[in-house]
Amino acid sequence: MEKSDSKNNMLREGSLDDQVVLVTGGGTGLGKSMTASFLELGASVIIASRKLENLQKTADELNEQFPGKVLPLQCDIRDYDQVEETVAKGVEYFGKINVLVNNAAGNFISPTERLSHRAFDTVVDIVLKGSYNSTLAIGKYWIENGIKGNVLSITTTYTFTGSAYVVPSACGKAGVLALTQSLAVEWAQYGIRLNAIAPGPFPTKGAWTRLFPNEISSLFSPDKKVPLGRFGEHRELTNLACYMISDYAAFMTGEQIVLDGGEWLQGAGQFNFLRQVPSEMWDELEKTVRKGKSE
Ligand code: HXC
Ligand code: NAP
Repeated sequence: MEKSDSKNNMLREGSLDDQVVLVTGGGTGLGKSMTASFLELGASVIIASRKLENLQKTADELNEQFPGKVLPLQCDIRDYDQVEETVAKGVEYFGKINVLVNNAAGNFISPTERLSHRAFDTVVDIVLKGSYNSTLAIGKYWIENGIKGNVLSITTTYTFTGSAYVVPSACGKAGVLALTQSLAVEWAQYGIRLNAIAPGPFPTKGAWTRLFPNEISSLFSPDKKVPLGRFGEHRELTNLACYMISDYAAFMTGEQIVLDGGEWLQGAGQFNFLRQVPSEMWDELEKTVRKGKSE
């Protein structure tokens, strides 16, 4: 058997042949990496976001390797009409769309009391409204045309824990999980699946500049924060995304898969702080604890 290589696509070539995927925020970061992996497996991809310049640059780069397979479309997902227009243009160009990846997001760290109500709206509107706009527009198109599509949303692990200092994002992402779980049941009758990936830290320019600026980056070392001791590699996330949108995952719906090297569990377990105890200290500790038993 061939040894697995985490740098490569795990699915067989052609696994996504004939799939047309709409990736929101597909011009940068994880959206760009997922787009590249989908293309490698045979899909065509529409990438949509606000900054046409970024989209065009990514499309030019990827179209060189996969001619005619990437369509960049400017779209602010907060505006339902723009989303509907994007879906219509994508269908006109590729003939259909059968996968939506809700990847676009907005986020930044801030004590909540420092936020204006407009700042709160801005993040929730991108994350939650943008995701339900996209899901509603594509869902209506799928149901009208009898297409058994699927939606993959990129969430976060704080969908189920909440998180201080990114409260608008936490509210928005929790809503995206609720959307995923609710529609997984409601739209199963149409053969539509909805799932989510909750990533831990995967370095991207967009996230790092807004969430881990230099002044505080030392507080967030993977050695301390992530039990597996490192950040995620984009290929690890894109492999999971390829699987979840493919027919190999045809029985999976309403699921959120965490991919975080154990990060959130480390924050949750009451005694996980004991990871910081050096192994040579355990002999002493054991003696003390045993003594305590007989007192
Ligand atoms: C306080 C802020 C602020 C800050 C903006 N605002 N930045 N308030 N602290 N750092 C306020 C503004 O003053 C304004 O309110 C309101 O928010 C809207 O700001 P705009 O700059 O006009 O908004 P816009 O141009 O739409 O940009 C949206 C954005 C921006 C979210 C602020 O950062 C963006 O475009 N982000 C997209 C990419 C992104 O965020 N990627 C990271 C995703 S990472 P007022 O009251 O002044 O009008 C992620 C991962 C999480 O989600 C998990 C990691 C492990
Ligand atoms: P990123 O590169 O900043 O991606 C965010 C994308 O969203 C950008 O391409 C941006 O493009 C797009 N976008 C923002 N507002 C939009 C709008 N109104 N309409 C359309 N598109 C919009 O950051 P990333 O790290 O790759 O994040 C990708 C996804 O992963 C996000 O959902 C994020 O929450 C999630 N995530 C990331 C991490 C991580 O560690 N990186 C961890 C957990 C979850 P424009 O500016 O051109 O609009």
